[in-house]
Amino acid sequence: MGINWGGRSFSLRRRPRFLRGPFMERPLDATPIATNRLLLRPHRLHAADAEAWHFIVNEPKTREFLEWPHRDRHASRRHLEHRTRHVRLWQADDFLALAIELDGVVIGDVSLHVRSTEKSNRSAEIGWLLDSRHSGRGYATEAATAMLALAFDVLEAQWVTAIVRTGNLRSAALARRLGFNAVAAGEEHDAFLMPGLTWDEHGREARRRYGVDLGPAERSISATTSPVRILAEKIL
Ligand SMILES: CC(C)(COP(=O)(O)OP(=O)(O)OC[C@H]1O[C@@H](n2cnc3c(N)ncnc32)[C@H](O)[C@@H]1OP(=O)(O)O)[C@@H](O)C(=O)NCCC(=O)NCCS
Repeated sequence: MGINWGGRSFSLRRRPRFLRGPFMERPLDATPIATNRLLLRPHRLHAADAEAWHFIVNEPKTREFLEWPHRDRHASRRHLEHRTRHVRLWQADDFLALAIELDGVVIGDVSLHVRSTEKSNRSAEIGWLLDSRHSGRGYATEAATAMLALAFDVLEAQWVTAIVRTGNLRSAALARRLGFNAVAAGEEHDAFLMPGLTWDEHGREARRRYGVDLGPAERSISATTSPVRILAEKIL
């Protein structure tokens, strides 16, 4: 993806690591998170996952709202391969993508994008994507709740944003259902925001309802150990 300005083109790809500012106190590494009905885990290049991913990325709604091109099998596999590498949050622009697995089958993806790392100002953007054949059963809500727990309880984000393309009603409804507030409407996108305080109010109930347990007590773990890894070991 890129933009043109004054006859020059600029890439919107991630900046090189050395230009991305300070690291957080510790990295957050992707490890599996179990919820009541789902398993969130890093993407893999297995044949079954590649097949599921090929279907998901080519769904018309997915393509429309994420502005994704049609991907043939080779391209969707390469896309999935990129996703398998997004397993650590440590610096601005880092991206964590987890497959949403239901009964052993990949049915979607939830992600977090670190936008700023400074502790008092830390923020992340959440993303979600579901195989439409599994829509309407609360799976996206359940998976996103686990990602919010990760963002607020482990990453210690001060707020989380969701950027939704105008007209993407299911995505906007999901943001509202999770407790986000619409804060800005652009020509093409609407911005939703959830401050940590809102999560403090709703998080306990959300975690209870969806079986997510990434308790704040886990925050004070030593800098060399990934808190998510320890939590996953407890859960699985
Ligand atoms: C955005 C998207 C993930 C939302 O999926 P979804 O199926 O609407 O969301 P959920 O899985 O949380 O399901 C919610 C529905 O299940 C119902 N539901 C049933 N059981 C539920 C439960 N236990 N908890 C919550 N909701 C439940 C809700 O009432 C809601 O019903 P409704 O659609 O009739 O209002 C999906 O539409 C999608 O992937 N779109 C294409 C990609 C995309 O646009 N991504 C976002 C880019 S910003």
